[in-house]
Amino acid sequence: MAAVFLYLVFSVALPAIIFIVHRSSRCRRLRLPPGSLGLPFVGETLQLISAYKTENPEPFIDERVNRFGSLFTTHVFGEPTVFSVDPETNRFILQNEGKLFECSYPGSISNLLGKHSLLLMKGNLHKKMHSLTTSFANSSNIRDHLLVDIDRLIRLNLDSWPDRVLLMEEAKKITFELTMKQLMSFDPCEWTESLRKEYVLVIEGFFSVPLPIFSPTYRRAIKARTKVAEALSLVVKQRRIESESGEKRKDMLGALLASDDHGGFSDEGIVDFLVALLVAGYETTSTSMTLAVKFLTETPLALVQIMEEHEQIRAKKGEGEALEWSDYKSMTFTQCVVNETLRIANIIGGIFRRTMTDINVQGYTIPKGWKVFASFRGVHLDHEHFKDARTFNPWRWQNNSGATYPANVFTPFGGGQRLCPGYELARVELSVFLHHLVTRFSWTPVEEDKLVFFPTTRTQKRYPINLQRRDRV
Ligand code: HEM
Repeated sequence: MAAVFLYLVFSVALPAIIFIVHRSSRCRRLRLPPGSLGLPFVGETLQLISAYKTENPEPFIDERVNRFGSLFTTHVFGEPTVFSVDPETNRFILQNEGKLFECSYPGSISNLLGKHSLLLMKGNLHKKMHSLTTSFANSSNIRDHLLVDIDRLIRLNLDSWPDRVLLMEEAKKITFELTMKQLMSFDPCEWTESLRKEYVLVIEGFFSVPLPIFSPTYRRAIKARTKVAEALSLVVKQRRIESESGEKRKDMLGALLASDDHGGFSDEGIVDFLVALLVAGYETTSTSMTLAVKFLTETPLALVQIMEEHEQIRAKKGEGEALEWSDYKSMTFTQCVVNETLRIANIIGGIFRRTMTDINVQGYTIPKGWKVFASFRGVHLDHEHFKDARTFNPWRWQNNSGATYPANVFTPFGGGQRLCPGYELARVELSVFLHHLVTRFSWTPVEEDKLVFFPTTRTQKRYPINLQRRDRV
């Protein structure tokens, strides 16, 4: 018995005590932001996970901001991490990408994304590829090339809806089809549909325990990733041949091949790049579409106002006539709805970075190699920055309401060198989707759905609605 006791003391208790003492003396030396590192090894990960199962939008962050302020230390997912819910510090983190902070994703994520994805690139290559993607998705390219297909594909989808749909599922299908068109000029067909089925398995992998031995979901995701990559690399091969014989297409793959004068991109590199673009816009845009509808449903005055805006646009056009850029630009109230949806319920709550050196901020030091999490949603939901911050109020964005928000308090698309290259594209897709939805249908939710702030693939209800087709103006 005594031997067992001694064994436990030396093998378990003693290392834990040494760990805690060492950790707290290091913390005192460095003047870390206040907070708690929680239990040895697990830190506060369990509190973080269980907090997000409640209905409260930011329980983990709220509790710690109340106790420690807008910069606090915690320990989650195996690493000490400093959370910032301070707009100025968030801006500092975003603006110092590649100098003081770098992006860092776990290996499990890179396996699914592919090592040549834009999200994982660094340095000059990242700059070049980020700028290429931004040019592809900028306003003038959307206006001149992408809008016509966004309008057509969304219309086609909505026209095929039955009387009852799971909105989130439909929004994902739309987003996938739009991205396939934009990346590789594919219209929806059997091939894209079978690719989508594999792709959905890949996405599930992002929300699973990333250990192939324990998680069948992760194993399935890795297999599906290989199938998606094989299918796309056939397309890339074919398009290379076409491109070499002088055939140019105005899609993302065309832009990649055209910029690859010296054969710098391997087929594998291009495939990784395309997969990451499919991933980046998928959950983000489709969740925003679903939540915009949900918030509008719960805010009847806003629903009436957005319907009026779109009926006015429709009234000037012939039956089935496509939306033009000037129509998009005239959707002023819709932009308020889009902003407000992204403010309250952006699926990307913030971004993780790793410090490249010791960082001094607000009189504290964040040690080299630590993780930081710049919480955008924490700022978006802070009453100090937005009056009645947790209420959906699209009118706060109207120019005549006197509301002006500094750029660093509203950052649904991040900022700095990694500013989302799809920010305008996402806004256009959301607006066109809302246009066709409100001019075609009225709807009622099938059941009370508590999904508001934190939808994830695993927990979200898919927002079933009953649709009634409207008489067209
Ligand atoms: C509502 C929709 C969207 C939201 C809220 C959103 C949000 C974001 C945010 C916050 C980041 C910054 C990540 C970081 O700094 O680590 C980001 C990056 C990115 N987004 Fe989006 N995004 C959306 C739609 C799209 C779309 C439609 C595309 C397609 C082009 C896209 C492509 C990307 C890419 C490629 C990156 C990585 C940029 C880089 O690391 O340089 N996003 N997005």
